Amino acid sequence: MNPNWRDFVVTVDERGLSTLVSAATCAVESLARPRGPRSNLTPAALHELIWSTEICPETGRELTEVLHELGQTVWSHGVVPSDPACVAHLHPPTLVPAVVTELAIAASNQSMDSWDQSPSGTEVELHLLDWLADLMGMPVSGSGIMTSGGTASNVLAMTLARSWAARRLGLDVLKTGLPEQARAWRILCSDQAHFSVQRAAAQLGLGRDAVIVVTSEASGIMSIDSLDQTLANLAELHLEPIAIIATAGTTDLGVIDPLEEVGRRARDHGAWFHVDAAVAGAFLLSENLRTQLKGIDTADSVTVDFHKLWWQPFNASALVVRDVDQFELLRVKSNYLDRGDEIEGMINLVGRSLDTSRRFDAVKVVATLRTLGRESMASMLEHLVDLTNYAGARIAESPQFELVAPPASVMCVFEVRGANGDDLRGIQQRLLARGEMVLGRTEIKGRAALKFTFMNPLATYDDVDRLIAMVTEEI
Ligand SMILES: Cc1ncc(COP(=O)(O)O)c(C=O)c1O
Repeated sequence: MNPNWRDFVVTVDERGLSTLVSAATCAVESLARPRGPRSNLTPAALHELIWSTEICPETGRELTEVLHELGQTVWSHGVVPSDPACVAHLHPPTLVPAVVTELAIAASNQSMDSWDQSPSGTEVELHLLDWLADLMGMPVSGSGIMTSGGTASNVLAMTLARSWAARRLGLDVLKTGLPEQARAWRILCSDQAHFSVQRAAAQLGLGRDAVIVVTSEASGIMSIDSLDQTLANLAELHLEPIAIIATAGTTDLGVIDPLEEVGRRARDHGAWFHVDAAVAGAFLLSENLRTQLKGIDTADSVTVDFHKLWWQPFNASALVVRDVDQFELLRVKSNYLDRGDEIEGMINLVGRSLDTSRRFDAVKVVATLRTLGRESMASMLEHLVDLTNYAGARIAESPQFELVAPPASVMCVFEVRGANGDDLRGIQQRLLARGEMVLGRTEIKGRAALKFTFMNPLATYDDVDRLIAMVTEEI
């Protein structure tokens, strides 16, 4: 028999809310599973299990039954970012205030494109982004917008940089497309920058070849000498650096480029200065760690991923800009959404975004920060940095391993002496297949390496010892 669909439309009256509470309890209970970062089901068995369920049966079933089934098929065979052996990626466990606020976000379903779909939401998002700009030391003109991730934030930043380069020529690139001069436009970043920079250049019609990669030092930070040399080469070739990107927390080594010096070069060359702080943006919360971000206040734009070291569920990222008026470079008026004739104070955030409908992710960040407070967030971060340094010291003293570079934030990247890329692949894949460890594997400057990324503030020094022992045994 079909369930009564009327029971499933979310309403905020007593009946609607009590339906939601009992369903939520059931959904939460379905998450219970044995220890371990993942099950040991083979890819084929997992495929069989998931594909054997009918997506849309002719008649529906009890919600409790469906949720229970999800527990058995989906959640039992997912990865568990809260397990200390889940150390491959920038993939964090999440925090209770954010997770329960996710439920409220979904149930209330505010849409962040226009004020008339999210009046209080618009104010919350603005309040959060202005606070973040202030935390960076930006002037009062600093503000921003939430995006779906670091990739989206970087693409948005490069969209602004491209429009700004055209605007200086008196052109509107959004209207007329790329001008002839764009053939000479270049974007500079280090060889350790995230691949989303290339993706942005490709999407913006500049092409991946427009990204000029600056060599990094052995530690992984951008070499300022190479940057100077690259800028001099570009000038000789009559090519124009329209943007220079520094990374604060590179994806593999977690290192922070010298922001002040890179920013100075960007200013001297009239280039947009973007800081990709997707990883280390959270350092702003810690008095001890934030000194490493010196110079972030001079950026034209900054990417910060809340769904990394702020432990938010996906998605939650922000692009902060130094001057909120720069968003005018993107604005496309629409008759139904953003007419520009609203009562003062009714801000339509669609004008700042590449999305139209958009989730109200800002509120879960606010719920988290208000519950934990800056000090707790800072100690969680500092613990992870300590843990990573400890792992680095243990790896460095082991005769079997060699650090690719000293740890700089939450990643510890190391080679196994005498092992090649295939051997490392074997180690990583076997641990993954048996469901014992989700270990990272990468290649840095041609060196095949394994990687621990410590994202779980509950992880201990004993956990680190255990992980190293497991890898050693696997060799
Ligand atoms: C430095 C850096 N920037 C950007 C990104 C992209 O972030 P997202 O996966 O949220 O798109 C990552 C992802 O790891 C990253 O490490």
